[in-house]
Amino acid sequence: MKLIAARFVTSAATAEAIPRDGVPHVALVGRSNVGKSSLINALARHRALARTSAAAGKTRLANLYRLDLDGGPGGPGRWSVYLVDLPGYGYARGGAESVTELRKIAEAYFETAGAGRVSRPGAEAGSKTCAATLAGVMHLVDSRHPGLDADLDAAKWIESLGTEHAVVATKIDKLSRNERNKNLKELERQLGMAPLPVSAASGEGLDDLWTLIARLSRY
Ligand code: GTP
Ligand code: MG
Repeated sequence: MKLIAARFVTSAATAEAIPRDGVPHVALVGRSNVGKSSLINALARHRALARTSAAAGKTRLANLYRLDLDGGPGGPGRWSVYLVDLPGYGYARGGAESVTELRKIAEAYFETAGAGRVSRPGAEAGSKTCAATLAGVMHLVDSRHPGLDADLDAAKWIESLGTEHAVVATKIDKLSRNERNKNLKELERQLGMAPLPVSAASGEGLDDLWTLIARLSRY
């Protein structure tokens, strides 16, 4: 899989601003500061395509990045994906309140992204799961902090969307081998699926993440 181009497309504040050109969207959802923007930069191999900050709450709108690729698990050929950097939910380790905050912004995005439907293999016409542009959701959780209420609540909400999704455990470089195994097991138990460990800092897991993105994009 070869990255050909990566570019910022738009900050979508309104439904009209969300591109619907047949290129699949993969949305990144996660708490503020979990590392969504950093991961986009790591995938794009670009230091500052997405703005990152040590202070939580940097990303306030749905920011869309278009990545063009060559080859992948689906074989040779060109394909593209929009990575959608959504505002993080909750500045604090809150529960219900922070999820409400996420919902306000993200639901508007998801409703729009799912609005213009196209046929996708295996998708039922008119069902929520065959959203035209929204191909999948990556739920980012901090590998250091399994079991946060906000993450568990968000997982339920993501599940309710009926869109394909996966859990990605960020900042794995910060853990010792023991902590890593313990926390990944704990996350799997809590969220019902094995998380993919990644690090924007060391590059660990990025190849697997690309494979996941290609799978969600149906490439
Ligand atoms: P919001 O936009 O506020 O929702 O945050 P975000 O999820 O986009 O997080 P961002 O990418 O801005 O990263 C937050 C902080 O975590 C920054 O200081 C990053 O440098 C740091 N960070 C992100 N990813 C990693 C990682 O893989 N390893 C390490 N060690 N630090 C990371
Ligand atoms: Mg961000």
